Amino acid sequence: MEKAIKSIILAAGKGTRMKSQTPKVLHKIFNKEILGYVIDAVNSTGKAQENYIIVGHCAQQVEDYVNNNYDNAKCCLQSPQLGTGHAAFQAYEDLKGFDGEVIILNGDIPLLTSETIDKFIEEHRKNNNALTVMSAILEDPTNYGRIVRDENGNLKGIVEEKDTTEEQKKIKEINTGVYLLDWPKVHEAFLNLDSNNAQHEYYLTDIVKWTINKGLKARSFVLENNEESFGINSKKQLAEAAKIIKNRVLDKLLDDGVTIVDPDTTYISPETEIEADTIIYPCTYIEGKNKIGRDCKIGPFARIRGDVELGDSVKIGNFVEIKKTKIKSHTNVCHLSYVGDSTLGCNVNIGAGTITANYNHITKEKFQTVIDDNASTGSNSVIVAPAHIGENASIGAGSVISKDIEPNALGLTRAPLKILKGWFDRVKR
Ligand code: UD1
Ligand code: CA
Repeated sequence: MEKAIKSIILAAGKGTRMKSQTPKVLHKIFNKEILGYVIDAVNSTGKAQENYIIVGHCAQQVEDYVNNNYDNAKCCLQSPQLGTGHAAFQAYEDLKGFDGEVIILNGDIPLLTSETIDKFIEEHRKNNNALTVMSAILEDPTNYGRIVRDENGNLKGIVEEKDTTEEQKKIKEINTGVYLLDWPKVHEAFLNLDSNNAQHEYYLTDIVKWTINKGLKARSFVLENNEESFGINSKKQLAEAAKIIKNRVLDKLLDDGVTIVDPDTTYISPETEIEADTIIYPCTYIEGKNKIGRDCKIGPFARIRGDVELGDSVKIGNFVEIKKTKIKSHTNVCHLSYVGDSTLGCNVNIGAGTITANYNHITKEKFQTVIDDNASTGSNSVIVAPAHIGENASIGAGSVISKDIEPNALGLTRAPLKILKGWFDRVKR
C-alpha cells in the first residue's frame, strides 16, 4: 500500500519586504491567496491526508483564511519565530506516531505545480530515500542555502548564505525549501536542532546533515523548471509571479483551442474553464471560478468576476461586468451592462446599459434576478432584484422594473414624452 503523506507548510514569517498590513501569504494572485496556491498544489496530488500550516505573524488572520477554505488543514502557532526548523517543529506533536511521509514546504511559493510535487514524491520512493530535498541550479544563487557535496558528489548538507565560506558561495545548486521525509526515520532530527549559526536560528536545513550522519539516505531532486521555486518576498515578485501564472493559463487555453486575440492584455484565472473556439478579445479580465462554453465572444474590455457559467455562443461585450450568474446559450449581453446574482435563459437579449440592481446597501443583502428564454431588456433599464422576467417578455428602454414581468408581456416605466413646441424662441426671449 502507498504510504500516507502529510504536509507542513511554513507560513509564520513576517514578509517585511511586502510593506503591507496584510500577511505575506494572504496576498492574492487572481483573487486566490499565495498560501492557497501552495495548499492546492499539495492537495491536487491527491496524496496529502492533512496539511499543518505553521502560523505566527498575523496568526489569527491566516488561521481564519485556512479554516474557512480547507477541511484538511490545521494551523499550528509558532510564537516566537525562531527559524524554519523551529517552525516545522510546531507540527511535531500532531505527527506523533505517524508512520508515513511528511512533505515540508514554504508557504510563499505559488508557482510550484502538483505535477512537480508528484515527481518529487515518486523520485523519493523509487530511490528509497529517508530524506529528499528539492534543489535548483541558479545562475545567481545569492541569498539561498547552498547544497554542499563531498568529492564524490554525495550530498553532505545545506549551508545558509550567511554561514558559507567564499568557496561555498560559488555553488549554484540551491535549496528551494521543499523536503520530503520518511517520518519514522527522520523525525528525531527535530529534537536535535540547535541555533549555533550566524543567524542564531533553528535551521530546518540542519535535518539534512542529521540524516546523513545517522547513515540514512538523503538525496536532492533537481527542479527542471527553476521558476517553480520562485518565492514571493516583495510586491515586485508578486507581480512577476502573477504574470507567470497568467501566461501558463493562457498557453494552456490556446493549446486547447481558445482564441485569445491579445494575450498581453488578457487576464484569465487558473480556475476558469473555456471551451474551444471561444474568442477572448483584448483587455478582458476573468477572475475566480468560471465555466465558459464553445463559440462565445468575450470582450473587448469585459470583466467576469467569478461563479459565472456561460453556455455556448454567448456574447459578453465591451464594458460588461458579470458576477455569480448562469447564462444559457445564444444570449447576448453586448454593451455597458452589469449582470450579477442572475440566471439568464437561452436567446435572451440584454440591451445596452442594463443593470441588475442586486444589492441592498443598508441590509447588505443580495437578491436574484431570473430572465427566461427569449426575453429582452431595452437599453438603460434597471431590474431591481428580486425579479423574474418571464419567457418572451420585453422591458422597454429606460425602465425601472421592480416587479416580476409575466411571460409575453411588456414591462415599461416611463414618464410620458412631452413636446413643447417653439421652446427655443421662448427661452431666447
Ligand atoms: C530558507 C532556507 C534556505 C532556502 C530558502 C528557500 C533555512 C534555514 N533556510 O531560507 O536554505 O534556500 O528558504 O527560499 O530554512 N518561517 C516560519 N517561521 C520562522 C522562520 C520562517 O514560519 O521562524 C517561514 C517563512 O514564513 C517562510 C519560510 O519559513 O515561508 C522560509 O523562511 P525564510 O526566512 O524566507 O527562509 P530563508 O532565510 O529564505
Ligand atoms: Ca525566503
